[in-house]
Amino acid sequence: MNIAVIGAGYVGATTSVSFALRGHTVFAIDHDKEKIGKLKQASLPFYEEEIDGLVKKLAGNGKLSFTTQLDECIDKCSILFITVGTPSLMGGQADLSFVEEVARNIGNLMNEYRVIVLKSTVPVGTNAKIKKLIINELTKRNLKIPFDLISNPEFLREGKALYDALHPDRIVIGCETQKAQKMMKELYGHAKSKILFTSPIDAEMIKYASNAFLAAKISFINELARFCEKIGANVTEVAKGMGMDSRIGAQFLQAGIGYGGSCFPKDISALLALASENGIPLNILQAVLQVNQTQPEWFLEKVKKTLGTLSGKRIAILGLTFKPRTDDIREAPSLKIIDYLLQNNAYITAYDPKGTEHVKKIYPSITYTSNPLDALKKADAVLLITEWEEIIDMDWKAALNTVSAPFVFDGRNALDASVMKQLGYHYEGIGMPEF
Ligand code: UDX
Repeated sequence: MNIAVIGAGYVGATTSVSFALRGHTVFAIDHDKEKIGKLKQASLPFYEEEIDGLVKKLAGNGKLSFTTQLDECIDKCSILFITVGTPSLMGGQADLSFVEEVARNIGNLMNEYRVIVLKSTVPVGTNAKIKKLIINELTKRNLKIPFDLISNPEFLREGKALYDALHPDRIVIGCETQKAQKMMKELYGHAKSKILFTSPIDAEMIKYASNAFLAAKISFINELARFCEKIGANVTEVAKGMGMDSRIGAQFLQAGIGYGGSCFPKDISALLALASENGIPLNILQAVLQVNQTQPEWFLEKVKKTLGTLSGKRIAILGLTFKPRTDDIREAPSLKIIDYLLQNNAYITAYDPKGTEHVKKIYPSITYTSNPLDALKKADAVLLITEWEEIIDMDWKAALNTVSAPFVFDGRNALDASVMKQLGYHYEGIGMPEF
């Protein structure tokens, strides 16, 4: 099949690569000339290990091409994916202006039946609005061309984007006609994943509900961690025991300093805003947000209590991205942590394998190092913020000779507490008895 993917960001680029790998011919389109220029040189606008080399290979064999011109692709593509961004507005609502712009362009350029697939994360009810918008544009051209607008949310994770796109747990397709359903079956047919055909509005809700539920698991375990710590229980053991119940499941029960990234924070705000506009307060989700917002501060209060004060202390921050294997720092807890430390007059030295350049733009005055050991030089305390392998696996024994005081605060429970204690560190994790 010939497929157009409109919006060449994280989801768009990954979707394009995954369909090209499955043998389709993909045209990745974006209005950003610079982005398209770079993609043509096989340079991605984000870091995603698996995808880098593939873009060059797929472009080389003609399966994937990049362009700013939807008009040149629309007649040859039977399926048009919309994968543009939906950033947060001031009130938390999702900004639909990019989706609307693409829909108008499609309505302006479409000449025969097309399946249009909405993959961007959009508020529940958007499919119906966008459908009207496309019909309006066609009416302006005195045309009555049939089309199907499908809601097909994306569930991929950063750092594992291509794997998730190729092997999703499930594929959700919100679709109203047999004809479109048949085309989507053909498109995704080879995938071993379960396919759920449902209504567009339910597909839209499934995306928000899934992210909200995963975030709820994280905030639940993080709040419980505070309690465990107070009464001397170990949240990691508690989570392990809970996770052995298949009804609960072991994933997303890793206590830490809170979730970040481009999806959970944005989608939860959007869902809360939408629910509130509709007069249905989502109390549990409100609490999920509140726990997440206060988790970094709760962590830093622990650090402050142990050190006596943060003022004048040299703090080493290990990890800046919102999670490992990405360069994404959007809504990363590290930013809140830097803010708090600076407000408390601490001196910061930070290390991250991929996120440093982005954080430097926000905090140019703190010191950055090119390896984790250097960040620890003369540190009064070390804060592990992102569980990159090279941070976990660094030579913690050698680090003892570098630090000024052996305090390690592990915001991800990534290190082995007993090993750290044996080495001679004062080690504090999240939600565990003090070592
Ligand atoms: C998430 C969803 O998983 C994905 O399905 C959706 O499409 C986009 O949002 P992503 O943001 O890439 O993906 O990262 P994810 O691996 O889900 O982690 C999100 C955040 O939760 C990270 O900050 C991570 O550190 C944190 N997290 C995750 C925890 O604190 N504890 C956990 O147990 C799991």
